[in-house]
Amino acid sequence: MKYISVAVDGPAGAGKSSVSKAVAKSLGYTYIDTGAMYRAVALFAINNGIDAKNETEKLVSRLNEVEIDIKYTDEGQQIYLLGENVSKRIREEDVSVGASNVAVIPEVRKKLVELQRKMAESANVIMDGRDICSYVLPNADVKIFLTASAESRAKRRYDELCEKGIECDFEKIKADMEYRDKNDSQRAVAPLKKADDAILIDTTEYDFDGAVKLVKDLILEKT
Ligand code: CDP
Repeated sequence: MKYISVAVDGPAGAGKSSVSKAVAKSLGYTYIDTGAMYRAVALFAINNGIDAKNETEKLVSRLNEVEIDIKYTDEGQQIYLLGENVSKRIREEDVSVGASNVAVIPEVRKKLVELQRKMAESANVIMDGRDICSYVLPNADVKIFLTASAESRAKRRYDELCEKGIECDFEKIKADMEYRDKNDSQRAVAPLKKADDAILIDTTEYDFDGAVKLVKDLILEKT
């Protein structure tokens, strides 16, 4: 059976995960958050005292120890690192910045992309990340690049973290986001970039429901 795949890329805070999650729920697809996997690797580095930016070789030599499991519950995707549910911890700012640092390492990307492609083989999926349209699922049925202005992305991420009860500081979030935007767009491997055949959606002027409707209609029209 041929399953449908929807690829969504874009910068931090554009609404990729919340919109993809809602659309997946409404269409009965599986939502796959690839950023959570990079975050789990970053947490592994933090927990083991490895500076992912300056001790790349050390991290690569221990990558075989990194066991990531993804489970789906009523509360959505739950991510486990070495058997521990780290779904909340990986949303904290140190892990966000760490994820952008581990994401430049080719060996990390190779390991995670294999896992992501395998997951897309057995279900209808909406997968979000940075390189999904261009690299992970180049044959996706629908490709979307979701973005928004830098100010509104920082504001959304701030609201999201406050709502989850995670300590947050607007200026720090904005600065971290700018760091990640630059790091993600300028890296040599799989940089964040709109694929030529992806449809650009700028959510700055849309509220959440508006963005969900837009993406859902697009998928229904294309599949
Ligand atoms: O949710 P947010 O957009 O803040 O970030 P995320 O999707 O959880 O991704 C965290 C970091 O992982 C990003 O800043 C990227 O550096 C990296 N990432 C990536 O390189 N490729 C992906 N497919 C997904 C995430």
